[in-house]
Amino acid sequence: MTTLSLSTSKPSDLKVDALVVGVAKGAKGVVLAPGAEDVDKAFKGKLASTVTALGALGKAGEVTKVPSLGATNAAVVLAVGLGDEQAVGRGRRAAPSYEPETLRRAAGAATRALAGTRKVGLALPAAGAAAVRAVAEGALLGGYAYHRYRVASKDAHKPPVESLTLSNPEARARDVRAAVAHAQALSDAVNLCRDLVNTPPLDLPPAELAAAAVAAAKEAGLKVEVLDEKALKKGGYGGILGVGQGSSRPPRLVKLTYTASKATRHLALVGKGITFDSGGLSLKPSASMEWMKADMGGAGAVIAAMTAIARIKPAVNVTGWAPLAENMPSGSAQRPSDVLRIYGGKTVEVLNTDAEGRLILADAIARASEDRPDLIVDVATLTGAQLVALGNRTAAIMANDDAVRERVFDASKRAGEQMWPMPLPDELRASMDSEVADIANMGDKYGGMLVAGLFLREFVGEGLRWVHLDIAGPAFNEGSAHGYTPKGGTGAGVRTLVQLAEDLADGSL
Ligand code: BES
Ligand code: MN
Ligand code: ZN
Repeated sequence: MTTLSLSTSKPSDLKVDALVVGVAKGAKGVVLAPGAEDVDKAFKGKLASTVTALGALGKAGEVTKVPSLGATNAAVVLAVGLGDEQAVGRGRRAAPSYEPETLRRAAGAATRALAGTRKVGLALPAAGAAAVRAVAEGALLGGYAYHRYRVASKDAHKPPVESLTLSNPEARARDVRAAVAHAQALSDAVNLCRDLVNTPPLDLPPAELAAAAVAAAKEAGLKVEVLDEKALKKGGYGGILGVGQGSSRPPRLVKLTYTASKATRHLALVGKGITFDSGGLSLKPSASMEWMKADMGGAGAVIAAMTAIARIKPAVNVTGWAPLAENMPSGSAQRPSDVLRIYGGKTVEVLNTDAEGRLILADAIARASEDRPDLIVDVATLTGAQLVALGNRTAAIMANDDAVRERVFDASKRAGEQMWPMPLPDELRASMDSEVADIANMGDKYGGMLVAGLFLREFVGEGLRWVHLDIAGPAFNEGSAHGYTPKGGTGAGVRTLVQLAEDLADGSL
């Protein structure tokens, strides 16, 4: 794992293998971003002209490597593009001259491009704690790689950067050090979620994912309980059991608890944990199964966010729920037209066994509601329709309360996650009316994401505020790596969930 430390040393003095500076698109060509002054001095003022000669334009995400030939302790200087030049903020209280997300992406692109390098120094613009935090997050998130299953091909894939040193004159300031600790906790959590999502489903059946949650919880100091199939039966969790019954590997429900001494409010997080979604008897075509190991991305996000919350310690009580099941076809699998009894008693006619996420979430949301939390947030790779509506990088936010949906939208922006508010039109509810049960698990195909949201809304306790995040697209990156986002599991949702806990703690939610 990549580690990060702060240093008051000048970048050119850092004992590192490579140094990262920012470059931007100025009115008259490439300009150096704040933070690069000392490195430029070591280059006798020729850094901007050198990167220009190498073809740099300063575009966001662009990386240009320059050999230092002894000018700095580091053998290589990497210039990363920040896009259009921004006005320079002055002093440590100044507003960051570049948007936090711009810094996060640039830092991520830089550490990603430096895979195989052991020690890296960062001299990116970072005036003030918010900018330091963004640079640290981006660099730590960009330094992620999943090589656990590589044996013969190991050497062909460079290991991530070992250690990062962030050069900053304010390195000793309390808020700057806190910003780095915060970034470290958050990035570790996002990377944990990525690991869980990337793990092959053979090795991560519900019991194993539950065991991973227990291990992570113990390390973080969280309380943890796991309901096995017997306990689920006793408790009346018909949704989780119905979906899980087709697999030889039985389902679980994980409950993680974080308690803060001065807390007056309570947040409940619920994450969809389908360890593999074959569709069940409503079998998916094989191409659609390729990345269905990521169908536990919501549960991964909740488990990971809980570990970060335990480290950051906001003054709010948080309960994390992860219903876990493997959706498989078999002689014991549930059939289309079976009726399940969800926790609390409502019945669901299963018209399509591939609409399984909402069944396990219904149980967990109904159970979470019993504790009467101030807010329930569920996060799920719930519908293919989410990708149709918003593409593969923007998650959807739905809610039973307009004000809360807007607050969550705002929190997602501050956390640096792409999300967009979506409606829950009442008229779509009737499309899930069942001939035999209280509700069917499928309705109109148009607006399928909203239909799924309306289904979940039925299981939220009376009078409780609830938000639903559909992360079907953003949870898994099938394309190439970009910014601080790798291929494969992305850790989508983690940073927003932690932000929401902090917002509830400080009373802004
Ligand atoms: N896990 C899928 C949703 C999904 C699809 C996530 C593609 C990521 C990429 C979910 O369980 C599912 O299969 N949903 C169905 C629902 C339908 C049968 C009502 C879907 O979206 O097709
Ligand atoms: Mn499915
Ligand atoms: Zn699914």
